[in-house]
Amino acid sequence: MKKTLVSALALGVAAGVGSQVMANPHNQHAEKSRSDLVEYFKAKHPERPFEDYIHGIYGYNAERKSQWEMQEEFPPYQDHVDQGKALFEKDIAAYQNCLVNADKGVNKIRTSYPYFNDKTQKVVTLEGDINRCRTEAGLKAFGWKRGDLAKVSGYLAYAARGEKINVVINSEGAKKAFEAGEREFAEPRGQLGLACASCHVYNASRQARSDILSPVLGHTTHFPVWRGKWNDLGTLHRRYEGCHKNMRHEAFKVQGDEYRNLEFFSAYMSNGLEVNGPSYRQ
Ligand code: HEC
Repeated sequence: MKKTLVSALALGVAAGVGSQVMANPHNQHAEKSRSDLVEYFKAKHPERPFEDYIHGIYGYNAERKSQWEMQEEFPPYQDHVDQGKALFEKDIAAYQNCLVNADKGVNKIRTSYPYFNDKTQKVVTLEGDINRCRTEAGLKAFGWKRGDLAKVSGYLAYAARGEKINVVINSEGAKKAFEAGEREFAEPRGQLGLACASCHVYNASRQARSDILSPVLGHTTHFPVWRGKWNDLGTLHRRYEGCHKNMRHEAFKVQGDEYRNLEFFSAYMSNGLEVNGPSYRQ
């Protein structure tokens, strides 16, 4: 039997975290990884409620949290969300019958992604699908990472605030994509021999230079984020690039298979948490 992320560290925590996910032959491994991770963080910080993991590092540091709360009164991303709404509505014909669940309401789109497409055998991300819909409708694709794509994605996250992440694994292909993402996350990579998990599981809550390390649990809930460092709104894959650079690892192609699998894994681990994007990060 394959080891899950946390049991690979020989923590030996029993599974049993309540989950709304129906068990099926394809999601057993993923569910074990997810519930082990939830239990791991619960054991590490018993005072931090599960729902709070949408707030990344703010759940670890009261001062940073109150700075952020002040900022939220006049959020730096607000203009971008408004522009995203206008961009979305301008080309609504391209999205309406193309983005998953767009017909059910603008608030239902974000949590329909990422999903595994059994026909193409690939993970489909929201940003990837926005551009697919655009090209299929004869419109120009947006550039990846920032700008109009981040704005539309930011608006769709904003519209979906309060909806719960619910990534589904119900095929062999989806299982494989999750496991590929999990390996990318859990195994050492790059010249420093670090794994994503070194920082975002085992050392989460610790200080790293001027940063506090966030837990992977909740990593996808609040994207795209407005980063002070960027002075801009950026996508999750843009953030992945930055972490890879810090690991002295060559960044993968944004929206390529590796980052999509990584997103699929991270989003699955965040199942049951509310969407709260966009948010602000240092
Ligand atoms: C050397 C430590 C380190 C490693 C290894 C690392 N990161 Fe990070 N990461 C950081 C720091 C520092 C930040 C900024 C503070 C924070 O939010 O964690 C960050 C932020 C992030 C964020 C944004 C979190 C938020 O709340 O907005 C994501 C997502 C992320 N990293 C994913 C990854 C992934 C995926 C990998 C592996 C490819 C990885 N990181 C590897 C240090 C690391």
